[in-house]
Amino acid sequence: MRQPLVIGNWKSNKSIEETHDWLLLFKEKCEELGWSDPENMPTCIICVPFPLLPVAKEYIDTHHLPLSLGVQDISPYGEGAYTGEVNAQLAHEFASYVLIGHAERRKYFHETEQELAFELLEAKTHELTPIFCTPSENESIPQSADIVAYEPTFAIGTGTPDTPEHALMVGNKIRAKISAIPLLYGGSVYDDATVKSFCKLGVFDGFLLGTASLDPVVFVHIAEIMWKEQLCP
Ligand code: PGA
Repeated sequence: MRQPLVIGNWKSNKSIEETHDWLLLFKEKCEELGWSDPENMPTCIICVPFPLLPVAKEYIDTHHLPLSLGVQDISPYGEGAYTGEVNAQLAHEFASYVLIGHAERRKYFHETEQELAFELLEAKTHELTPIFCTPSENESIPQSADIVAYEPTFAIGTGTPDTPEHALMVGNKIRAKISAIPLLYGGSVYDDATVKSFCKLGVFDGFLLGTASLDPVVFVHIAEIMWKEQLCP
């Protein structure tokens, strides 16, 4: 069985205090469920804003939380004169994963295919695991991606997820292009019914959650559904 994967994308949300609160609640929920061994529970990752990385890492390390950190973007360049950028080498001091090509990075920050290719290269060079986001089955998916997330733009933050039928069709087409790496669905996954219906499709290994990841109770609940019912492959 492939291990279910739940990735939270906090986007541009949360303060230092709210981060502590989130992690404390996550810890309590995991304790309730008896989740301490990352091998024996869904893989949980949260992608936080850069300034929250040190705080989150310290808390996770101190309390041995079964949770990994990711960043939401990375500079396409290495160290050097690139004002405002955070390079992969520095991000790797705190995080293990990086989102590449999220729809909001493409839309609001006009990230190009070329930049995404550079970001992937930087991530791989500095041992950050890339989670490559694609809005449809028609985009090219770089072979160096380690995790792929199908996130249709019409479903992101709208409250209307893709239909399971359409997601299955797209998921199968994406699957045909990638090797045996995890494939996630993302876009308005909030409730039990959506989680169950997507898991049952058998093509997705888990979810990339935006809004639902802001509340640790919801985040863990979604992971719990997947785990208890062994719904994802
Ligand atoms: P949403 O966001 O869950 O709020 O729709 C998903 C995402 O952007 O990754």
